[in-house]
Amino acid sequence: MKNGKSLDATLFVIFGAAGDLTQRKLIPALYNLYLNGWMPEKFEVIGTSSREMNDVKFRDHLRKGVNQSSRRGKVKDEDWKNFAQCLHIIKMDLTEAKAYKTLAKILADREKEWGEQANRIFYLALPPSMIEPVTRHLAASKLNQERKRARIVVEKPFGHDLESAGTLNRLLTGIFEERQIFRIDHYLGKETVQNILAFRFGNTLFEPIWNRQYIDHIQITVAEDQGIGHRGRYYDKAGALRDMIQNHLLQILCLIAMEAPVSFDDNEVRNKKVDVLHAIRPISHEQVHRHAVRGQYGAGKINGEYVKGYHDEENISENSFTETFAAIKLYVDNWRWQGVPFFLRSGKRLPAKISEVSIQFKPVPHQTFPTSATLDWRPNRLLIAIQPEEGILLRFEVKKPGPIFQLSPVMMQFFYREAFKAVPPEAYETLLLDIMKNDATLFLRGDQAEAAWSVIGPVLDVWSSVKSTDFPNYQAGTWGPEESDILIAQDGFSWITPTTLKCQEDASVCRIITEPLP
Ligand code: BG6
Repeated sequence: MKNGKSLDATLFVIFGAAGDLTQRKLIPALYNLYLNGWMPEKFEVIGTSSREMNDVKFRDHLRKGVNQSSRRGKVKDEDWKNFAQCLHIIKMDLTEAKAYKTLAKILADREKEWGEQANRIFYLALPPSMIEPVTRHLAASKLNQERKRARIVVEKPFGHDLESAGTLNRLLTGIFEERQIFRIDHYLGKETVQNILAFRFGNTLFEPIWNRQYIDHIQITVAEDQGIGHRGRYYDKAGALRDMIQNHLLQILCLIAMEAPVSFDDNEVRNKKVDVLHAIRPISHEQVHRHAVRGQYGAGKINGEYVKGYHDEENISENSFTETFAAIKLYVDNWRWQGVPFFLRSGKRLPAKISEVSIQFKPVPHQTFPTSATLDWRPNRLLIAIQPEEGILLRFEVKKPGPIFQLSPVMMQFFYREAFKAVPPEAYETLLLDIMKNDATLFLRGDQAEAAWSVIGPVLDVWSSVKSTDFPNYQAGTWGPEESDILIAQDGFSWITPTTLKCQEDASVCRIITEPLP
């Protein structure tokens, strides 16, 4: 064990442990932390399920999940055997008070056995409707009361709009103190997303030009080639704006646009991010059509394979008006960003799974070279590749070799895997470790979640009252509806086709597969 030794004993209670999240994300993350020596010496998972299940069955079910979803692939017998000893399941009716008494006793007994008090993490891997009954029962059985040791973890969706997020915040903060509440946005646990902070505030080079004087506009693209899978019931009520833009994309925007924090203290970092959300220019209802575009996919082809349209997906009604693509233009009204547009887009069934931030710099103030030398000239561009490969690319101009003076764009490249010869940890590994360390920097504070809802509120209002008349309006396998191109073209720009990075298995060589279109 390396650093996990310094962590306090931890009892990790997962409500809804038989579900998908536990199998695909939480346990693979905890297992990888264990293999890396990051787990506390005294640690136990107590999962709850409404169904009867014994530890053996539970462990088998989780092992399958780790085999399928862990970045390390299949488990090794010996490692798994050791790790799995700390996994337990209990049958629990989450609406019954006495079940929480039993849980409290199990936790107390374990602490007695360990001879010390443990941190108690209550992870709600549950549908939103269960948050209220579970938190109220936790309070009634006094499981919230150890202010320093009890923590509650809530997954998105964090409310459905500003009002419901406010209600949820009041519920949670009425039972737990804000510092006990960990609201997860898993994008904040991704290495490259965290790296935005390192890149901006660990270097002197970029900060002086990180403003309206040098930056022309910014694009944030989070594209997925997948459809909605088996999540139709949830997704049809959410849509792309709620599912992706309200949280993941706005959080990335905050990291790009925030001022330098004075320290890496969790509240200081979050204050600076909330400042950005507050500075975003409100979109009036009348202006929504000029700032936001929605789309829904029809049938099409992705990677040569036919895929069905949204209306034909499981649990989606034939006349659903839910958007599976959203693009939005935002302005951050402060000294640094006045007048610089931020374009955000995200959608399902786009050509590839790829996320990237593109910082487009302004043209040079004066072209020194003759026109014949600048035919290939392009403004500087910084690309932050978030996934699938992670890296940072900087485009700049050089002289093309030869007797004739001609400028040509080239890329300076940093590939995470090539530089560090390591596969970055999964977002959940970072986030779960931070919860155990009691570090909330990468988690949403209540006011942050509400401020993000305020930003998209007018768009939600207009979209729910004026139904789209042209759905489906993009074919699966394309970059969304034509209106999205028009949205950005209004300001004289065009979407940058994301850059594909490819690293060899052993990360010895990484390269750009497709040069982005100019
Ligand atoms: C989730 C959304 O928050 O993020 C999903 O609910 C989406 O719809 C997922 O597919 C994307 O996450 P990632 O890490 O695969 O980019």
